[in-house]
Amino acid sequence: MASGAAGGGKEERVLLVGGNWKMNGSVDLIGQFGREDSIVSTEGVQVLVAPPSLYLVPAQAVLSPRCLLASQTVSEHGRGAFTGEISASMLMDVAIKWTLIGHSERRTLYGEDDARVRAKLCTAWAAGLSVILCVGESLQVRSQGDKAAEAFVCSQLEASLAPASGGAAATGISFDNPRPIEKDEDEAISGHDAEPAAQQHQRLVIAYEPIWAIGTGQVASAAAAQRMHAIIRHWLAAQFGPSLARHIRIIYGGSVTAAGAEELIQQVDIDGFLVGGASLKPAEFGTIIQTVKRQKAKGVQ
Ligand code: PGA
Repeated sequence: MASGAAGGGKEERVLLVGGNWKMNGSVDLIGQFGREDSIVSTEGVQVLVAPPSLYLVPAQAVLSPRCLLASQTVSEHGRGAFTGEISASMLMDVAIKWTLIGHSERRTLYGEDDARVRAKLCTAWAAGLSVILCVGESLQVRSQGDKAAEAFVCSQLEASLAPASGGAAATGISFDNPRPIEKDEDEAISGHDAEPAAQQHQRLVIAYEPIWAIGTGQVASAAAAQRMHAIIRHWLAAQFGPSLARHIRIIYGGSVTAAGAEELIQQVDIDGFLVGGASLKPAEFGTIIQTVKRQKAKGVQ
């Protein structure tokens, strides 16, 4: 599969830079983010922050509408006796419209297998949330070579997004029944002059995060990341058609820093970042955002 083959269309995609605070942060850090001028969405680059759920509402008060807020996970259940969990409809109730799903730490530390990731995705999607679906291979899989890593990532996509085999049972997400996007959300996505038409493909973002790169300081090379992003876009094209695949954002995560962002964001299929450790430093996170905005302004082939 030619690695750049599916890369066309980057200039049409709104890039996205997300900060995943994990179990870090404080009211003070929210205040620091509020004072950092570069942490702000523009027409071509969305900024998203995913603090611990306790801080979502306080962060919203300080940061909205400058950036989007996301939960780091969401329950696959609608409501009920699930101590400690947060439902998709609760997030929507307090106007938190984004969630991460399937982060590798949820998968490895909390036993979220593909079936649960899929259930969470379906529940979140049906409730109207926008989703960043995280996928990525372990070091053990990567050590078996590119093909093994690609097959693994495609199997994660398949398990989460493909229609269930055997007919009438739960299907993966569908782009056929548009939820009307509210005005403020639409503006954050596409700028103030945007058409109000719902853009369902904007509600799904794939984050490619090789596990061996997360929190290790070992970033995937730009070429290797591009190669996997192209594979993911090919998979999306086969699943949803080339037009949707052209518009769905695929972002990279795994030890992204201000220093490494420049080369990665130049790749035709890399549409932004999910940043962990470096997103806890407002100035560095702001620099990464500025790098992405500069690339957006330059235009991409
Ligand atoms: P990292 O984390 O940037 O600290 O590697 C990325 C992530 O887990 O999303």
